[in-house]
Amino acid sequence: MTINPGDQVETARELMQAPEEFRTAVEKIVISHAVNELYGAQVFDEPAIALAPTPYSKWLTCRVAMEEYGHHVRFKELGEEIGIAPERMAASDDKKPLSIFEFPLQTWEEFCVIKLLADLAEILQVEDLAQCTFLPLRNLSRMTMPEERFHAQFGKDFCTELCQTEEGRTAVQDAINRYYPILPKFFGRPKSKNNEIYRKWGIKQRTNEDMLADYVNRAQEVVAELGLTLPDISEAA
Ligand SMILES: [Fe+2]
Ligand SMILES: [Fe+2]
Repeated sequence: MTINPGDQVETARELMQAPEEFRTAVEKIVISHAVNELYGAQVFDEPAIALAPTPYSKWLTCRVAMEEYGHHVRFKELGEEIGIAPERMAASDDKKPLSIFEFPLQTWEEFCVIKLLADLAEILQVEDLAQCTFLPLRNLSRMTMPEERFHAQFGKDFCTELCQTEEGRTAVQDAINRYYPILPKFFGRPKSKNNEIYRKWGIKQRTNEDMLADYVNRAQEVVAELGLTLPDISEAA
């Protein structure tokens, strides 16, 4: 059987028959998710349980941390099914986590902003993968989607609550000003060769530029609903 660009691949087994370019592209995406879901859970979500100010917020933060670890576990399982060695699915010297995790998390306000803005970025990626031609990856994306939506909503709800006091509002805006500028990189470079291959095979649907433009609009919208603003990063981006 021949697998051509745009064809659907239904199982991990079938993927083994696919051209190398397709297999490598799927592997890259699965590895990236496995690495970054784990790293994010370790540096942001789990430490945030200690930063959460009330039993209620700790409870919900535990749920977020549990789900992010769960995303790692599921992507890693899929990776193993398609023959990726387990050690390639954890951060290492040649597989660095994304730069959005370099932010040194110190406060509850920062964590709420991270969930508001970074999980929105993740939602865009998952929405795109939910149309993927490799069906096990499509199904996994569809499964994680409600949880990523919950994380972004968690960020929005707690930011809304924080913004009720002048002090909280200032802290949230300050965290946005410091965190937002590192987000555009999450979408990859313009005219990316990898992205071209992903689109050729129908693994991803949109260009990096298109995703970023959509993200900026959606981030602007949600931040405006809080009565806050995004910093101008036109120079940096
Ligand atoms: Fe996640
Ligand atoms: Fe998330």
